Amino acid sequence: MRYALYSIALTVTTACGLVGIVACEQQNLGDAPAGSDGWLAGDAQQKFETIADQFGGFSQTMVEVGYRYTELYWAGKDENWEFAAYQIEHIEEAMEAGIQRRPARGRSAGMFMDSALAALSEAVEHQDQDMFRQRFEQLATNCNACHAMEEVSFIQVRIPTERYRPWGAP
Ligand code: HEC
Repeated sequence: MRYALYSIALTVTTACGLVGIVACEQQNLGDAPAGSDGWLAGDAQQKFETIADQFGGFSQTMVEVGYRYTELYWAGKDENWEFAAYQIEHIEEAMEAGIQRRPARGRSAGMFMDSALAALSEAVEHQDQDMFRQRFEQLATNCNACHAMEEVSFIQVRIPTERYRPWGAP
């Protein structure tokens, strides 16, 4: 009798243990909803897809590059060279992240960074206002050359005429 009770207890414990492990494995697979109010739902693969979508594609990169391009222009005008170098660095980072998400843009983006952006970076290093103005114009031409190559030539980059914000000014 006592043996039988032990046996039942053991069986129940083992079964619960197994249920526990299965539940635990499900958690490990990432099936439980995550994020505020569980907006990130589905299995692990679906969640990764949702997160990847949330990062956006190359246009997300370009919105950032467009902003930084304008800030960069005024940084050069102000001869705030540190801020100009900062913007170039962040344009590179944004481009690299964009290439990672959209590898098909890699070749043209790589060419742009190695040529026009690197040339402008040189002007910033030399802290040379004339060189900066000239190379910034070349940069804008290269932005548009890539837009033409990538079949979005309706997006025309121009030399900025207005500041977004006053904080670039020394
Ligand atoms: C790799 C080639 C490439 C280079 C270099 C490039 N662009 Fe773009 N740009 C694109 C593509 C492709 C799109 C359209 C993105 C899409 O539809 O996914 C775009 C879109 C844009 C947009 C519209 C973003 C939006 O959705 O509102 C802006 C602004 C822009 N680019 C600015 C620039 C500026 C400024 C430069 C230069 C500093 C530049 N781009 C350099 C390829 C490029």
